[in-house]
Amino acid sequence: MHKVRIVQKLNLPPIERRLEAMKEAGFNTFLLKNRDMDMLTDSGVNAMSDKQQAAMLEADDSYAGSETFTKLENKIEEIFGKEYFLPTHQGRACENIISQAFVKQGSIVPMNYHFTTTKAHIVLNGGTVDEIFIDEALNLTSDNLFKGNMDLAKLKDIIETNGAEKIAFVRLEAGTNLIGGQPFALENMREVRKVCDEFGLMLILDASLLADNLYFIKEREESCKDMSIREITRAIADLSDIIYFSARKLGRARGGGICTNNKDIYMKMREYITLYEGFLTYGGMPVGVPVVTPSGGLGCHINSMEFVDHIPQNEYPAGALVAALYIVSGVRGMERGTLSEQRDENGNETLSHMELVRLAMPRRVFTLSQVKYAVDRIAWLYENRQLIGGLKFVEEPNVLRFFFRKINKFFRMGNRISSQVPGGFWRQSVIRS
Ligand code: F0G
Repeated sequence: MHKVRIVQKLNLPPIERRLEAMKEAGFNTFLLKNRDMDMLTDSGVNAMSDKQQAAMLEADDSYAGSETFTKLENKIEEIFGKEYFLPTHQGRACENIISQAFVKQGSIVPMNYHFTTTKAHIVLNGGTVDEIFIDEALNLTSDNLFKGNMDLAKLKDIIETNGAEKIAFVRLEAGTNLIGGQPFALENMREVRKVCDEFGLMLILDASLLADNLYFIKEREESCKDMSIREITRAIADLSDIIYFSARKLGRARGGGICTNNKDIYMKMREYITLYEGFLTYGGMPVGVPVVTPSGGLGCHINSMEFVDHIPQNEYPAGALVAALYIVSGVRGMERGTLSEQRDENGNETLSHMELVRLAMPRRVFTLSQVKYAVDRIAWLYENRQLIGGLKFVEEPNVLRFFFRKINKFFRMGNRISSQVPGGFWRQSVIRS
């Protein structure tokens, strides 16, 4: 439990201003100049504790041999049991180092599901990503408690078809981000490890969302009920050759890091750390609205294909919904669908498996009344979902286009939606205490 002791003022502008802001941003929530109710991400925006803030003030920022580095290195060893630690400035920096060190032209990286930045780094180094999720993973409303599991038969098949020498490494992502924060089971990871051992492959864990995954293992995996979170963490770590993480998520902190017990692979990555990162020792929604089930970690994931089933996928339903939601609520979410994919080499659109709107829940940041406000607005929008129209590109960057894209032609939307939001309290969007 925590108590709130420092607060930060938020703006909730009236709906007319929100519509203007959304137009100025090209209907891209990444381009909003934001001081609103921000559920875009849970990355780097979790509330830090008094102890964490105090530790940052105490930190020793010597260019080399910082005692703060040693403190962090020791803590990583205590938690993960890994001897060698490489600090980075954030998660994608780890992906850069790992991809540069191990991905070659023609390499294949099998994984339970990709994350945007992970895939971009692998592709940049000449590799391809092969997703080997279980069939159930794409079933948005499922009873399967571990939709982040890897399909073992498909894993073996990829290795046997391409030859183990083509596989750079196998990557397992905790709390699979893009399919709704779904966990893998410890049992599944043990089986993946066996396959890696059989073919002499490295198993790399993306632990950015490990906290969520640990919780789900403890809650949902019968054989782990009596294990402590620390014990489950250690069991997962012992199965991994390399663990990397964004500490903007894991630990509700900042930064990131890579750790391993293998000196050779540590040495291979270490040279890139100095090049890119600096010297080593530097310092849940109500029923009715279609959501991913069972609920995953990191936030609420709305299934836009069902929410706005009148918008075809090539008009970006999740992008349209996330813009509409901002207009009616001032709550900023993130599109996790086709706009977050890259076009293929021929310029064709790669339709994503899912069209999700993610409302991230930064830890310890929002109060229940704010969550209820968001729920109320989403419920209103669901009832009036016919007002929402599709989107069309007017400006499209080549790489990670979702960050800077601009879109217009909000077919039926825009002024109509803002004029239909009920008056009084919600139109002014003033939350009174
Ligand atoms: N891996 C996973 C599973 C992530 O969710 C993220 C970031 C990264 C790697 C990259 O880490 O941002 O520190 O460079 N996810 C954020 C999000 C951006 O909003 O889900 P980073």
